[in-house]
Amino acid sequence: MTKLFHRIDSCEVNCAHLDLFRQTRKMSSHVIPPAPEYRFASDNNATVHPVVMEALNQANAAHATAYGDDPWTAQACSAFSDLFGQQVETFMVWNGTGANVLALATMLSPAGAVICSDSAHINVDETGAPERILGAKLIDLPSTGGKITPDQVRSQAHALGVVHHVQPSVLSLTQSSEWGTLYSPTEIANLCDAAHSMGMTVHLDGARIANATAALGGNQEALRSFTIDAGVDVISFGGTKNGIMYGEAVIYLNRDLARSAPFVQKQVTQLPSKVRFISAQFLALLDDDLWLKNAAHANAMATQLFEQTRHLPGVLLDQPPVVNSIFPVLPPEQIESLREWSFFYDWDAHAHQVRWMTAWDTRPADLDHFVSGIRHFIH
Ligand SMILES: Cc1ncc(COP(=O)(O)O)c(C=O)c1O
Repeated sequence: MTKLFHRIDSCEVNCAHLDLFRQTRKMSSHVIPPAPEYRFASDNNATVHPVVMEALNQANAAHATAYGDDPWTAQACSAFSDLFGQQVETFMVWNGTGANVLALATMLSPAGAVICSDSAHINVDETGAPERILGAKLIDLPSTGGKITPDQVRSQAHALGVVHHVQPSVLSLTQSSEWGTLYSPTEIANLCDAAHSMGMTVHLDGARIANATAALGGNQEALRSFTIDAGVDVISFGGTKNGIMYGEAVIYLNRDLARSAPFVQKQVTQLPSKVRFISAQFLALLDDDLWLKNAAHANAMATQLFEQTRHLPGVLLDQPPVVNSIFPVLPPEQIESLREWSFFYDWDAHAHQVRWMTAWDTRPADLDHFVSGIRHFIH
């Protein structure tokens, strides 16, 4: 063996190395790359921000009065008033579905209906909770990219005052939308005008309001421009998708609508006894604009994911993301193996369109791993 090795001259050694290199490369294209540790399924899958975890720990140091009569809740409510530049009424709730249900329950008139887009979370992803708990009809309008228009809202005016029809009572918008799109502040203002002129009030499902704010300017003026300044009455203000462990806030910009909220909150099972743990998390999130930094990072990672995947064979992507999700169309026969390797959701199964979503904690290394997997499984 040694003898044989010595007979190979330098050219042969190089050629032998090259062959070995080629073979290894061929083999390695069949080797499944390691899956990303943090995946691209949902910002709901993300970790808790360490600052928020620390805030939870600090709120855990002693006993405190239950049901919101505690210093953390008082401070968090006043922090939300500061954020919106006027006194608002804030209620901490367990989750996003509950936030929407509480908000709508306090906004609906008798025989009232909620107008929303056909892709609204309240319409497709809450297992009918609003219909069941509120006993109200949802009028879901066909949307483009998750968005509806003032004309569509006005088209429902024919029902007003007719005793045989539910009465359009609340317009519910989602910002950012379930399709990762944004309404401009003017679009929201026009929708609010249309709704108010029909005697309706406006709810904003802001499960990802931080991502929207980050994309629209990244400061409190940006937030106010599409909420309080645009005429929105009540917001479901998200925290869970933006670095907190659990909890959302229902914020009444229109304080008249908050009158029944303390009672309705309990009735719809959204009054946690240890409210301080939700309030402490929101305080941490609002402090030093952590909520905006987290969201800006998630948005930037989605842009990077788009850039790194849009030219890959088999991946069909058109618009760059404005917030933290992209929606590629993939070859149907290859989706399952990629998903098995690193989980993500279908978004329009008929069109073979899936959703990849980034979060506050998405790391560039995870992104690189994910892209390697896409290269491996999708052609
Ligand atoms: C637009 C939107 N609204 C509300 C929610 C709240 O859902 P949950 O009740 O799971 O917290 C979500 C969660 O994914 C969402 O995407």
